[in-house]
Amino acid sequence: MSDLEPHRIVRLEEDAVVVLDQRRLPAEERELRCRTAAEVAEAIEALAVRGAPAIGVAAAYGLALAASSGEDVDAAYELLVRSRPTAVNLRWALDEMRSDPSPARARRIHEDEVARCQAMGAHAVPLFPPGSRVLTHCNAGALATGGYGTALGAIRAAWERGLVRHVRVGETRPLLQGARLTAWELEQLGIPHAVLVDSAAGALIARGEVDLVVTGADRIAANGDTANKVGTYPLAVVAARHGVPLVVVAPTTTLDPSLASGGAIPIEERDPREVTSRFPAVNPAFDVTPAELVHAIVTEHGVHRPPYADTLPRQLAVVR
Ligand code: MRU
Repeated sequence: MSDLEPHRIVRLEEDAVVVLDQRRLPAEERELRCRTAAEVAEAIEALAVRGAPAIGVAAAYGLALAASSGEDVDAAYELLVRSRPTAVNLRWALDEMRSDPSPARARRIHEDEVARCQAMGAHAVPLFPPGSRVLTHCNAGALATGGYGTALGAIRAAWERGLVRHVRVGETRPLLQGARLTAWELEQLGIPHAVLVDSAAGALIARGEVDLVVTGADRIAANGDTANKVGTYPLAVVAARHGVPLVVVAPTTTLDPSLASGGAIPIEERDPREVTSRFPAVNPAFDVTPAELVHAIVTEHGVHRPPYADTLPRQLAVVR
């Protein structure tokens, strides 16, 4: 059984939401059983399950668990929706569940997210020149989506068509989602890869060793401004300086048409002890890349080019 199968990453059982604990990967493949909505919210907050679509899926399962075990569903909704602030997929999934908090509805949300990833992968393939040397940041793979992946799904689809030479993976300080999770996924997929410290990426791009930067997103405002793991913005600036395209791969569940621009996206500030316990620290988990630095946004509907307010799909008009 592959560790990247959707049910292995997150699933609903009769008495628990079960997640593959991403804090322990790749050293240890251990499952975490969450028996209440509060325990699911804790698992999301602590990054046992993480990545924008995956936390939406986990929260949907958490609400279904609450409903079936007689918990107060409104209280469960409030706990879950507050577990992480930046990824809009969380609120989207919980709002979808409100009218029908059933296990069947939650499983459908999970299946649909994986299907959206596969569609995005197929749409993204033409953006990869033959022999692509790709740079990615954080983890936007199967682990982050509940199966297949957004940015990593696109890389996988392009690799399967012979278009990728290798992938460079920013380690993603402070919690090493790139060095631990993306490298682990690429290893399982058999895609040649190497990890680099985040601060080495600029020089790599400047030396002409990167053809394409591909990332996921946690929230995309109506104008295309994109919040993603902290460190994406400096990559975008350096990529633009050297004429390297930055492609964002994200489903429409990551779009937030209620926000005109990225300045309004809430940026999660995490515990400074994730950075250092000896000295004061600031620990913003995300940054915002202005739309003008984004070469293309790939959703399950296709490839969208600037100006994004016009070209993102009509789904933007859906109230979220
Ligand atoms: O803090 P994390 O690990 O949840 O941050 C995840 C990211 O920034 C991903 O790039 C994003 O959620 C896209 S996941 C398909």
